[in-house]
Amino acid sequence: MFDKNTYIERRHRLQEQLDSGLILLMGNQESPMNFPDNTYRFRQDSHFLYFFGLDSPGLAGLIDIDEQKTTIFGDELTIDHVVWMGPQPTIAERARRVGVNETSPYRELEGRIREALNKGRQVHFLPPYRDDNRIRLSQWMDIPINIVKNRASETLIKAVVSLVSIKSPEEVAEMEKAVNITRAMHLAAMRRARPGILEAELAGIVEGIALAANGQLSYPAILTVNGQTLHNHYHGNTLKDGQLVLGDFGAETATHYAGDITRTFPVSKTFSTRQKEIYKIVLDTEVACIEALKPGVFYRDVHLFAARMITEGLKALGIMKGDTEEAVQAGAHALFFPHGLGHMLGMDVHDMEGLGEDYVGYGDGMERSTQFGLKSLRLARKLMPGFVLTVEPGIYFIPELLDMWEKERKHWEFINYEKAQQYRDFSGVRIEDNVLITEAGHQILGRPIPKTIQEVEAERQA
Ligand code: GLY
Repeated sequence: MFDKNTYIERRHRLQEQLDSGLILLMGNQESPMNFPDNTYRFRQDSHFLYFFGLDSPGLAGLIDIDEQKTTIFGDELTIDHVVWMGPQPTIAERARRVGVNETSPYRELEGRIREALNKGRQVHFLPPYRDDNRIRLSQWMDIPINIVKNRASETLIKAVVSLVSIKSPEEVAEMEKAVNITRAMHLAAMRRARPGILEAELAGIVEGIALAANGQLSYPAILTVNGQTLHNHYHGNTLKDGQLVLGDFGAETATHYAGDITRTFPVSKTFSTRQKEIYKIVLDTEVACIEALKPGVFYRDVHLFAARMITEGLKALGIMKGDTEEAVQAGAHALFFPHGLGHMLGMDVHDMEGLGEDYVGYGDGMERSTQFGLKSLRLARKLMPGFVLTVEPGIYFIPELLDMWEKERKHWEFINYEKAQQYRDFSGVRIEDNVLITEAGHQILGRPIPKTIQEVEAERQA
């Protein structure tokens, strides 16, 4: 947790952006895994954490803008809880740590909301993504359950996005920590991989490092010999010589700031020539895209720059052909690079995604493309100092997509299908770093993680 003044200041800046009414920020509850008392590891809501800092279940924060009164709602533990869970600070003690002097039992929250609504006051809330909170909001505010999300306050969403998008130096320090733990996880995967072991063994090692650092995974680990499947969470394959391992995983710190790094390495200690050729295109693209980052640049332009570099690289290998600009405009490169170049990063790995991707990644007036590939670009807007984002180009050979496009003769003028089919068992390469936009340009977060062919091969042989 940061100093209480951080939370006071954040709430103050939030209130400044809304004229009147109440701001309701729901914390998360415990979530049962297979019976009520056997819960998933508790994860607090990131926006509640941002404004109220308290990392325990059963809390909500209410800011009355007109009365200038902030209250934390939550229930004190009974002696039965204390017997099973040990003594805990009171709600009032915890609230004071984040600069809040008013507390109330959780059951009183509904009354406060109904009273405000009855007086015609607005209660601003964020779109719920957990069903238990959706049900609470539905019941308290008499909103049909299926439209609760639509009734979320756009003013509040935009205010939260404007604040959370700009990371303060203390947040950046936490994110550096997250990336450094993530670095240790990637080094361990590179060092411990060998033919004959299960992906699950490596996945266990990397998750153990996140847990041992008093954090946890910031998202389910992608650690696979089938890197062509973008979000592959299956860990049941055995590593074999000649394969590539794509590891896309990260730690979140005890304060829940996330790292999100991808590296790709050969199961054999060295890359094959074919692997090197594809890897080099992705590496050059990643490095050049990071170089291009500075305030004022539109991330959509950097994404399209990546698409052009990948197209050029694949043309040099005879896999693509034709005019690069026309191929990218048509979306032909997306056969091999079907996702966006990156996204915002913070306490959520896709930062603030629950508020609506377009609020976060597309500025007012920016239209999201519907074209395959470009439609998956989560961040397109103009970059500002304080943004932290991922840069993660990749090249994939997805047999099912390759076959489908070939059958449809899709982008025939830009894709040499005969050559591309020779790579159908290649899998995929993605390389990803986490970057802070600074006044002067950018800064890659964390200590360097092996990335060049020489560095990765040296790490595999360490
Ligand atoms: N690193 C996983 C993702 O960006 O979706």
